[in-house]
Amino acid sequence: MRSKFLTVAHISELPEGGQLRVELEDKEILLCHHDGEIYALDYYCSHDRLSLEGGTFEGDTIVCPYHGAEFCLKNGEVRAGPAWEAIDTYPVKIDAELILIAEPDP
Ligand code: FES
Repeated sequence: MRSKFLTVAHISELPEGGQLRVELEDKEILLCHHDGEIYALDYYCSHDRLSLEGGTFEGDTIVCPYHGAEFCLKNGEVRAGPAWEAIDTYPVKIDAELILIAEPDP
């Protein structure tokens, strides 16, 4: 089944190294622009439900600013604790300078 992609931001809102919180169908999502790629992941860390916004990038991971859990930007898997549950990530497309995210599963 093909996912429907929905526009969430203009590329100018997310410069290289930047992060942007967006909402898509009641889900809060963090857009990250790192090393030329745009990633969309859960806004909240799976450890203590605190925001991942402001986390630093290390290689292909984002480091939670609160207790240091690390998640892969590409697939949300845990690379370092204290979190143990993966976070969701969402397919991203760029079309005519717009950032689109695949509609989350209900
Ligand atoms: S809330 Fe992210 S590591 Fe604790």
